[in-house]
Amino acid sequence: IPVDAFDLVIFGGTGDLAKRKILPGLYRRFMAGQMTENSRIIGAARADLNDDSFRALVGEAIEEFVPKDRQDAKIIAQFLEKIAYVSIDATGEGGWAKLRGMMREGVVRAFYFSVAPSLFGAIAERLHLNEIADAQSRIVVEKPFGRDLASAKALNAVLAKHFTEAQIYRIDHYLGKETVQNLMAVRFANILFEPLWKAEYVDHVQITVAETVSVDGRGAYYDKSGAMRDMVQNHMMQLLCLIAMEPPYHFDPDAVRDEKLKVIRALDPVKPEHIVRGQYNAGGGEGSYIEHSEDPSSKTESYIALKVKVSNWRWQGTPFYLRTGKRLRARASEIAITFKEPPHSIFDDASGWRENVLVIRLQPNEGMELQVMIKEPGPGGMRLMQVPLDMSFAAALGDEADDVPDAYERLIMDVIRGNQTLFMRGDEVEAAWAWTDPLIQGWEARGDKPQGYDPGSSGPEDALMLMHRDGRRWREIKG
Ligand code: BG6
Repeated sequence: IPVDAFDLVIFGGTGDLAKRKILPGLYRRFMAGQMTENSRIIGAARADLNDDSFRALVGEAIEEFVPKDRQDAKIIAQFLEKIAYVSIDATGEGGWAKLRGMMREGVVRAFYFSVAPSLFGAIAERLHLNEIADAQSRIVVEKPFGRDLASAKALNAVLAKHFTEAQIYRIDHYLGKETVQNLMAVRFANILFEPLWKAEYVDHVQITVAETVSVDGRGAYYDKSGAMRDMVQNHMMQLLCLIAMEPPYHFDPDAVRDEKLKVIRALDPVKPEHIVRGQYNAGGGEGSYIEHSEDPSSKTESYIALKVKVSNWRWQGTPFYLRTGKRLRARASEIAITFKEPPHSIFDDASGWRENVLVIRLQPNEGMELQVMIKEPGPGGMRLMQVPLDMSFAAALGDEADDVPDAYERLIMDVIRGNQTLFMRGDEVEAAWAWTDPLIQGWEARGDKPQGYDPGSSGPEDALMLMHRDGRRWREIKG
């Protein structure tokens, strides 16, 4: 279904995110017929480009970041016609009058702040002063949304000077991933799972976001961030919320976000012994974290594992184990919900019983798998075996699975539709920082050093121990 006609201004239009995600994503939505003929994209950046040279840059981005079988010369040419450029000085006066002149009446106006957060205030103010944004306009902001509670509050305040909460779309691209939304469909559109979705039946939950990439080239950013700020405070927190939250009364932006907020507020502070931080060693032909960092004595973590407690009625006694890291064995993200033993076994101890596990795979090979027990085939008596009830989206949906939009595509279309369900509300972000800050302050005050781990491994030894101590094991990281 096409969205309303829009003028989308991308500040930072020549930047990395615009080239890798935003512009290729818009092209794909155009190709799918969702971006209408009279919509327009305006790149805004400092670079001294014109419409033609910016279009050339967009063309190159499409060539590089859109799969070859989705590149159609005719459609690319039509798409590029929708694109314009304005050279703008985010903190000065240059370009703003021109941008104002480009805005059209009667279409949705959206402004994507794909720039450093330090520029949010200046841009918001100029949009307002130059009367470029109106009361219906939307702004889109990216992470990092602050680096602690104080800076997140300051950013919220700066945006709130000129925009209402209903106009602000804070992107967490994990919420745009197909399987992440499917998690809500699975939970709330089936009677099967929800009755078991609580401490009484769930032994524990594992959330893994494993990556193979290093931070080479991003050392300066990463040193100030680390896995906790870069991945846990936002992406993993969102996944945790969607699993742990109560059913919202309706699939409606504030109803969903209210429930997520309650989960964040119910998180206990994490004990130091329940936090394992790691830093990758050199190996596999690449340098160590320290070589990629700008600080030879950096204590920043490229890996973190945490045992998290959600202190509420539903989850009392069910730990949530979170881990994420760079340079691990495989790129694999999943949520695994391990259920408890049946209250009484009618089978012999040696029968081979294992737990039921519901695995939600985010990437690669998006899908779901439910590990169930069956009888081992054959005449060998009542021996049990665990088999997966496997639903790979690619297999179940056939060609349609290829058309599943990338997270950014979906989220940008939601901005135009005016649907904030998959965006973080200001209070949510602040609550997440309020939980994160003391953990970081704690290890900084203690002077904790991250433990080394080898590239291609599944993380530091201590992370294995975190589970072993509880008589549990991490699932294998498999790509
Ligand atoms: C980003 C982080 O937000 O998410 C990166 O800054 C990380 O460090 C990336 O690599 C992971 O996203 P995805 O979609 O590839 O899992």
